[in-house]
Amino acid sequence: DKNYNDKQSILKLISQLLAERIPYYNWVGFYLVDETEDNSLVLGPFVGEPTEHTKIKFGQGICGQAASTKTTFVVDDVSKEDNYLSCSPKTQSEIVVPIFDKNGNIVGEIDIDSHEKAPFDQDDRSFLEAIAKLLSERFW
Ligand code: SME
Repeated sequence: DKNYNDKQSILKLISQLLAERIPYYNWVGFYLVDETEDNSLVLGPFVGEPTEHTKIKFGQGICGQAASTKTTFVVDDVSKEDNYLSCSPKTQSEIVVPIFDKNGNIVGEIDIDSHEKAPFDQDDRSFLEAIAKLLSERFW
């Protein structure tokens, strides 16, 4: 049976819905700011291939750069990035949207990988930023 109340369950459900409904969202997950270590992220609920990147330091990869700069990153072609952590050779593009608490501190992020090149447009960005804001209001 499902629990629609706790944070981890809701993050998992959102990952499942996004991965199921949007054909070019091929890996969908959350990284959360590590509460036991400064300036690092830990892998939270996700849907898709398992990744070896379960911990990411701020500044490392697309996820770490989104965390340290507190901005949404859209990468149309990951093969052109040098600060990038590969999870799957199938991944061609990525979007990372930060989640903030009420004080503007980063608490986590939504990370989506696509097998298509340059699929993420302004609608994806606005939609995912709206989800990040709702989650923030609910849980942080
Ligand atoms: N590609 C990310 C790492 C996380 S995986 O995509 C799930 C990055 O460069 O930070």
